[in-house]
Amino acid sequence: GEYSSLGDVAGKRVLVRSDLNVPLDGDQITDDGRIRASVPTIRELSRAGARVVVTAHLGRPKGAPDAAYSLRPVAARLGELLGTEVAFATDTVGDSARAVVDALQDGEVAVLENVRFNAGETSKDDAERGELADALASLADAFVSDGFGVVHRKQASVYDVAQRLPHAMGALVATEIEVLQRLTRDPQRPYVVVLGGSKVSDKLAVIDNLLDKADTLLVGGGMVFTFLAAQGHEVGQSLLEQDQVATCRDYLERSEASGVEIVLPTDVVVAPEFKADAPATTVPVDQIPADQIGLDIGPDSAAAFARHIAGATTVFWNGPMGVFEFDAFAAGTRAVAQALTEVDGLSVVGGGDSAAAVRRLGFDEQAFGHISTGGGASLEYLEGKDLPGITVLED
Ligand code: 3PG
Repeated sequence: GEYSSLGDVAGKRVLVRSDLNVPLDGDQITDDGRIRASVPTIRELSRAGARVVVTAHLGRPKGAPDAAYSLRPVAARLGELLGTEVAFATDTVGDSARAVVDALQDGEVAVLENVRFNAGETSKDDAERGELADALASLADAFVSDGFGVVHRKQASVYDVAQRLPHAMGALVATEIEVLQRLTRDPQRPYVVVLGGSKVSDKLAVIDNLLDKADTLLVGGGMVFTFLAAQGHEVGQSLLEQDQVATCRDYLERSEASGVEIVLPTDVVVAPEFKADAPATTVPVDQIPADQIGLDIGPDSAAAFARHIAGATTVFWNGPMGVFEFDAFAAGTRAVAQALTEVDGLSVVGGGDSAAAVRRLGFDEQAFGHISTGGGASLEYLEGKDLPGITVLED
């Protein structure tokens, strides 16, 4: 399989970079999708007799230890999922890490504390990253890159360490790349892209790159109000990126010229406040009251989006249609997710928020073609950018 280039891993210390960056509420993991997605590679290496040393980050601590970002609860959950004891080092490359790695027996698994507790991890300075990468490399005989969600980051545990050890791509990264390739290289048509989420400025490069590839682009979520403003609508108190209105107008014009259809909602659910129990009403997009906030696409729009998705052979969806965390504003996201489960073809859910949304709304993950563990990483891939954590493996 993936690790044949490493030779026989039995008895070897294999450093695995996983993406275990999961949402936490205190020390409670609210969505363990990324941990579950990391299990197959770790289990396979363990069964092959490797001494598996997992390195990962959690959140964005400031380059120093911070108890709020400890990987300890994540290591415990990983142990439950693997069904074995998982050792935990209270530092990343210090005395604890060395002792824990030295004590590992063949087939055993250890997790090192949050790699971002070290300033070298995210440093722009090659030498600073190199120092941490040297220390990580000294703990292992080989490196497996399996943290798809971080392959767009040129960071010590993702990029620099691969230059210092025999390395291989993990099964999760391999699968993610394979699926994303099917979205960009000769996708089966009709090809529908659904974009949501709060900011259009996060999605500009994706829209640029997909506008010539997809047949239809459905737009919802907070970002839609900048498009509606570009069409001349009043959006009340809704999210609006004033400095992107001209860009959205340009997209709408380009879509007319290129034959790619951009579909915007015709109705939205509005409320006077951003609150779970705020009184919700549905209005046409040209009648958004000045004192209200748009918090979801409306039922007519949800039905129209679902019809477009039902007619597609390839669908990529990134970004919720509304504030799905509040029941009153979850219907648009639910309708899109439901429609994806019924696609006769390839349906891909990309990105942290939409992946969390489908699980939170109770959908069976198996009903989708693929749920990506990458947010930024899958978007950057679809933007056509080089991912440092992938190119470093190919060099
Ligand atoms: C993610 O959550 O998208 C990845 O884990 C990367 O995290 P980052 O955006 O903090 O680098």
